[in-house]
Amino acid sequence: MEFAERLKKVPPYLFVEIDRLKNEKLKKGADIIDLGIGDPDLPTPSEIVEVAKKALENSAFHRYPSNQGSEFFRKACANYMKRRFGVEFDPETEVSALIGSKEGIAHFPLAFVNPGDVVLCPEPAYPVYHLGTLFAGGEPYYLPLLWENNFFPDLGSISKEVLERAKILWLNYPNNPTGAVATREFFAEAISFAKRYGLILAHDAAYVEMYFEEPALSIFEVDGARDVAIEFHSLSKTFCMTGWRIGFAVGKKELVQGLAKVKSNIDSGVFTAIQYAGAYALDNLERIVPPLRAVFKERRDYLAKALQELGFELKIPQATFYLWVKVPKGFTSTDFCRKLLEELDLVVTPGNGFGASGEGYFRIALTVGVDTLKKAVERLSSFVIR
Ligand SMILES: Cc1ncc(COP(=O)(O)O)c(C=O)c1O
Repeated sequence: MEFAERLKKVPPYLFVEIDRLKNEKLKKGADIIDLGIGDPDLPTPSEIVEVAKKALENSAFHRYPSNQGSEFFRKACANYMKRRFGVEFDPETEVSALIGSKEGIAHFPLAFVNPGDVVLCPEPAYPVYHLGTLFAGGEPYYLPLLWENNFFPDLGSISKEVLERAKILWLNYPNNPTGAVATREFFAEAISFAKRYGLILAHDAAYVEMYFEEPALSIFEVDGARDVAIEFHSLSKTFCMTGWRIGFAVGKKELVQGLAKVKSNIDSGVFTAIQYAGAYALDNLERIVPPLRAVFKERRDYLAKALQELGFELKIPQATFYLWVKVPKGFTSTDFCRKLLEELDLVVTPGNGFGASGEGYFRIALTVGVDTLKKAVERLSSFVIR
């Protein structure tokens, strides 16, 4: 059976070799420490689970959900945006529920990208920006996120010819995989750039609540964003709810409505009981999230320092639960990660899997407890000393 052209364009999965090796080791009973997975290990806070349990019994929620999301969920999203970022959105027209932010990010280009249009995608990055582009028949144009530029793209380097064909500029801060956070200045530059070249500014804010010091920014905290931007939010990492599949898109009405129109023809919304629990989570975010944040901060504090003491080079991330670390001289990303797995039973993610500019780095996810991180550091120190 031959796949369609759009599926043939999907690049090969770069973590195949690591996955194969890991599974082989697991079968042999190896004590693998897996720092590869970007999925919080903590359970969803029990009060959210309890609200969901009660909601399950509400027979009104057993029917098809509202496509764009229930009114109560969209209101909770708008209230959150107002409380946290000081910006008002109309829950009727400027908010849409998503089956996780990934779903919205993947579908968004279908609303605005024609075959041959260019979409500006950062790299290294979460792969869905460029895959959503490919599925819509668009052409990704990659914007390297480099250490020396604090992992911001160099917007000035894009040629006029590319900009004439460009439709969307994707950004993601706090950033996976680099852990970089946006500054107001950078967002202001991106907004005026989008306005100058008639681009849609699509911002993935999946990690906006996973900050350790200063609260991370929404693009809408910067003047002018409302004219050009849509922002994708996720309850996954914020509330340790990755399995529940709920997020939302918020922003300029036409952008949200374009996405909602695509979605209304593909999916039938988020299970209303989950929206009910999601609304409860958002309404109580200021109370529920700080203890979760503290757990990840403790892990970051421990591991970032321990790695630096071992001689690894990294910028201490102010947000996300990722450490983006340079591989020691003389190794490629793949070689180094394979060696850690072969010799230390340690899984980390090779940076080149997130894009060409990720070569020379590896990503660690802080999704295991400090005790396990200590074990990982012990293994690494034996390796470094050798
Ligand atoms: C940068 C980024 N955006 C979006 C997502 C998708 O999250 P979800 O679909 O669970 O909301 C992820 C998940 O890992 C991510 O890393």
